[in-house]
Order: sequence, then C-alpha cells, then structure tokens
Amino acid sequence: MSSRECRIIEFPKVLDERGNLSFFQDEDQIPFSIARTYWIYDVPGGEMRGSHAYKTLQEVIVALSGSFDVVLHDGDKEMKFQLNRSYYGLYVPNMIWRRLENFSTNSLALVVADKVYDEQEYIRDFEEFQALRK
Ligand code: TYD
Repeated sequence: MSSRECRIIEFPKVLDERGNLSFFQDEDQIPFSIARTYWIYDVPGGEMRGSHAYKTLQEVIVALSGSFDVVLHDGDKEMKFQLNRSYYGLYVPNMIWRRLENFSTNSLALVVADKVYDEQEYIRDFEEFQALRK
C-alpha cells in the first residue's frame, strides 16, 4: 500500500441476495488516513469539475452511482479512467492534475482525502503545475 502511483483500488464486495455491500476502512483499502469526505452530485450534462492539482493532498475517488471519467495528467502524459462501479476507487497522489468529466445523469462522485479543505493546497494554473513538476 505504499505505492504513490495512480491506480484503481478494488474494495471488498459482500454479495448478498438482499443487496450487495462494499466498504473501505483505514488503512486496509485506502493508503492514507482519511481526514475529509465530500461528494459531487447534480452535475449538469457536459459540465466538468476539478481541473487542478494538489501540492501534498492524496485522494481516492469513487463513482458511488452512475459513471464519470477522471482525467489525470502527470505533467508529461494524460491518463483517463472511467469509473462506473461503486466497488472501485481511483487513488490519486499529490502533484497530479485531475479533472472529472462526462458525468452520467444522477451520478454521484465520492472523494476521500488525507487533508481537510485548504485553498493553499490547490494549484489551479496548469502551466504553474507543469513548471513545478519539472
Ligand atoms: P473545488 O475543490 O474548487 O471544486 P472543483 O474541484 O470540483 O472545481 O471546490 C469548490 C468550492 O467548494 C471551493 O470554493 C470551496 C468549497 N469546498 C469546501 O468548502 N470544502 C471542500 O471539501 C471542497 C472540496 C470544496
């Protein structure tokens, strides 16, 4: 669990005829201690969220419902992950440019992060991000 690479994490699935259950807990599935949870919902068609990087913050993004794409950029190349199952999470380390787009109707994006909200964590200028990556 020490890798700082962008990657998909598969959560446990407890299959049940009454309905399935998945979970994550510190620090078995999530490679950090969770300080904050937020969610993005009611996204109008064609809208995009994010489009920034974090200086030190790490996060895991889950499509709890519906689907959306997470587009990541490491300063060199772009990687796109389509999230559409609630038992997969995408781990995004710090210093990765990331945006969420292509939200389906009624999609619900859950994000857990290792830090509380702090505007100072954000890099909102892509050129500044690329310069810092070098
Ligand atoms: P922001 O992270 O900029 O959203 P996105 O990356 O999707 O464009 O957050 C939008 C606003 O919401 C920001 O001005 C501050 C507020 N906010 C909080 O107060 N707490 C939070 O945990 C988050 C994620 C945002």
